[in-house]
Amino acid sequence: MTTATTSATTPASYQRCAKCGSRYSDMDAAPKCARCGGLLEIVHSTPSVRGAELRALFAARRLDGSDGASGVWRYREIVLPDAGGSIVSHPEGNTPLLARARVASWSGVDALLLKHEGHNPTGSFKDRGMTVGVTQAKRIGARAVACASTGNTSASLASYAAHAGIPALVFVPAGQVALGKLAQSLAYGARTLLVRGDFDACLALVQQASERLGIYLLNSINPFRVEGQKTIVLEMLEQLAWDAPDWIVLPAGNLGNTAAFGKALREARDLGLIDRMPRIAAIQAEGASPFAQSFREQFATRHRMKAETVATAIKIGDPASYDRAVETIRLTNGVVTSASDAEILDAKAVIDAAGVGCEPASAASVAGVRRLVREGTIRPSERVVAVLTGHVLKDPGALLRYHQEMSPAPQYANPPVEIDPTVDAIERVLALRPATSASADAS
Ligand code: F0G
Repeated sequence: MTTATTSATTPASYQRCAKCGSRYSDMDAAPKCARCGGLLEIVHSTPSVRGAELRALFAARRLDGSDGASGVWRYREIVLPDAGGSIVSHPEGNTPLLARARVASWSGVDALLLKHEGHNPTGSFKDRGMTVGVTQAKRIGARAVACASTGNTSASLASYAAHAGIPALVFVPAGQVALGKLAQSLAYGARTLLVRGDFDACLALVQQASERLGIYLLNSINPFRVEGQKTIVLEMLEQLAWDAPDWIVLPAGNLGNTAAFGKALREARDLGLIDRMPRIAAIQAEGASPFAQSFREQFATRHRMKAETVATAIKIGDPASYDRAVETIRLTNGVVTSASDAEILDAKAVIDAAGVGCEPASAASVAGVRRLVREGTIRPSERVVAVLTGHVLKDPGALLRYHQEMSPAPQYANPPVEIDPTVDAIERVLALRPATSASADAS
């Protein structure tokens, strides 16, 4: 990989408190501002080139392989210019932008694209933040790393920490993590703590623990993770030849990603990478929608709630990156709404039956597009990118319940049929009317 454009003695980046403006070294391990407790953000020195030249630099790296085949480190000037030889990469990113007519027609948008982050090495978008977070852990010589998680962050942390050879400790809500995610965290060797409490309790606990035990905290409030997650937007814009879509729609839980998207877009605009700001639509599950509630009141009140939804990844009642996410919505003239569990599961069945597949929380983005089209907020002729955040195999439990167990059977259920081992039995099945499938009827 190419080296940073700044000299080795002057750090290219520093940390700044988003609340009081205090500055800290890029090597400071504190998770929050020591002065006021505000969240930190990373500020990089301005790259030596901007606009078309910077776009060309990114493109050249992809071609000559000096990005290490990573869709995160390709953008290193605005991710972590001083990462140098510490980079811990699988690699990650380089996820596809998919056009699927059936999903588009179900959502009500003519030109819907799906940015599928489930194609990352551990099956979720978290890998983009984690390659940077664990790289930073290595830079500062962290003796151990920790996070609280609804399952994907922990799977990703477990994997990257194993790659770096740093012990990992993960805190997940007992009995509320999807099977695939829990399995990953065990498989990759993280010390996995099943906390008798919800995600919000896990987050509070890990913050106390990391402070007391001196373990480096890698939740999405970690500003280095935000830098990596920005690349979902940067890569999507590059795939669109830097011609920004009208809307970028994403599921929203702890709001780290919503925050990262706003920072990415602000920087892309300021560096002349794009000349038009897309609007962000953040979609929550109805039973875990404190941010959507606040949006309805023009953010006059910060709401918190006891979260309940089938989309366990976003079952969060008190999102940590609330303030940063408000900035994103304001910056992009964005909107926040919610989708019911039934809408999320139907959207998922449609995405799955198009051969794409995603986990329940990811489908909130497409359910949200459909809702916003019906409300008249998104026009069918607008260009929309919906982000699919996680892989279909993350949550096999929710999937099988939908297709096999729910009563009455949902609209798009595709239950398996058990048969005797005879050709007659097959003929009888084929003579039946096809199951009401999402692929046959996606309108
Ligand atoms: N989609 C998936 C699949 C997720 O795992 C998450 C968050 C989100 C969307 C929401 O992103 O929190 O940045 O608003 N998962 C976290 C975790 C909380 O611990 O894996 P967010």
